Amino acid sequence: MKALVLSGGRGTRLRPITHTRAKQLIPVANQPVLFYGLKAIAEAGIKQVGIVVGDTAEEIKQAVGDGEKFGLQVTYIYQQEPLGLAHAVLVSKKFLGSEPFVMYLGDNLLKSGVRKLVEQFNREKANSRILLAKVKNPSQFGVAELKGDKVVRLVEKPKKPKSDLALVGVYIFDKNIHQAVAAIKPSARGELEITDAIQWLIDQGKKVCWQVVDGWWKDTGKVEDLLEANRMILDELEEKIEGKLDSESKIEFRVRIEKGAVIKRSRIRGPVIIGPGTVIEDSYIGPFTSISENCLIRSAEIEHSIIMAESKIENLSQRLSDSLIGRNAVIRCSKQKPGAFRLIIGDRSEVDLV
Ligand code: TTP
Repeated sequence: MKALVLSGGRGTRLRPITHTRAKQLIPVANQPVLFYGLKAIAEAGIKQVGIVVGDTAEEIKQAVGDGEKFGLQVTYIYQQEPLGLAHAVLVSKKFLGSEPFVMYLGDNLLKSGVRKLVEQFNREKANSRILLAKVKNPSQFGVAELKGDKVVRLVEKPKKPKSDLALVGVYIFDKNIHQAVAAIKPSARGELEITDAIQWLIDQGKKVCWQVVDGWWKDTGKVEDLLEANRMILDELEEKIEGKLDSESKIEFRVRIEKGAVIKRSRIRGPVIIGPGTVIEDSYIGPFTSISENCLIRSAEIEHSIIMAESKIENLSQRLSDSLIGRNAVIRCSKQKPGAFRLIIGDRSEVDLV
């Protein structure tokens, strides 16, 4: 079995971060989202992985390399335009050959990994196995309609969903999927939809099996979902203090402070992760916060947020919460009077002063 990991796409819902960065490399608990998927694939015993890349190809290649650090052999497959998930399969035909494969959306996180899914597929004679999850807002997903124990219809982002079972971004296909992706036509939004390709398999009488996902699943396509994924991963964080902590600092609950991080006169209430080289002074870092490497946090309160590498946050007069801060960002507040907001904000940025 091979794996196909989709790491192209436009990432419009995560702008402005995705103007300069691949969304699959946004850190969740200080690790790129994509790495969780690659580890899950390696853990399922798969070695050969094709990574579909687009405009952000170089950045993804730099982060993943030849895959050796994950125990994988990675082949990069260039998709000229993000013309849909089924289109990504179409351009990967040569790499996939006639072997079955796990298709994994590079921005998805799955607590239970993929091992069980692969084992189940290997036990049965199916043409595809899909994962479903109950969701509150099915019209934002591909939705499955079941009759008895069979999937009879899959519809991409339906206005009137027939069930609350969303298609999770991890699938297994055998070689029949190549015929399916070649047969379907682009949808109204101009994409070759994987839901249409699976529907084609069903309509041709192919065996499409399904199971409900074990544990949590998160598609990190939007900021709220990224923060929730961060919360879920931090919830299982192992405590480890490798950085320096002065005698005036206090740590509560599960906290990981990586090598080279320095904490002075601050209170850290976990679950929290603080990356190497980051300095925290006179601050409060609250639950579900991930601060990447080489940041400076001084006289600030932060909680339920992701702060990416090399950022500086200083002298905040209010707590920073529910925020996603990109790399090399600077947020500072001066005590000067009269006070004012002076902002240099990139295209499509969002600032909520609450
Ligand atoms: P999506 O989140 O469905 O699409 P997107 O990345 O274009 O984002 P947005 O809707 O916010 O504009 O993609 C799921 C995953 O699949 C993600 O990792 C990107 C990848 N992908 C491709 O590799 N090729 C494609 O043609 C598409 C549509 C997505």
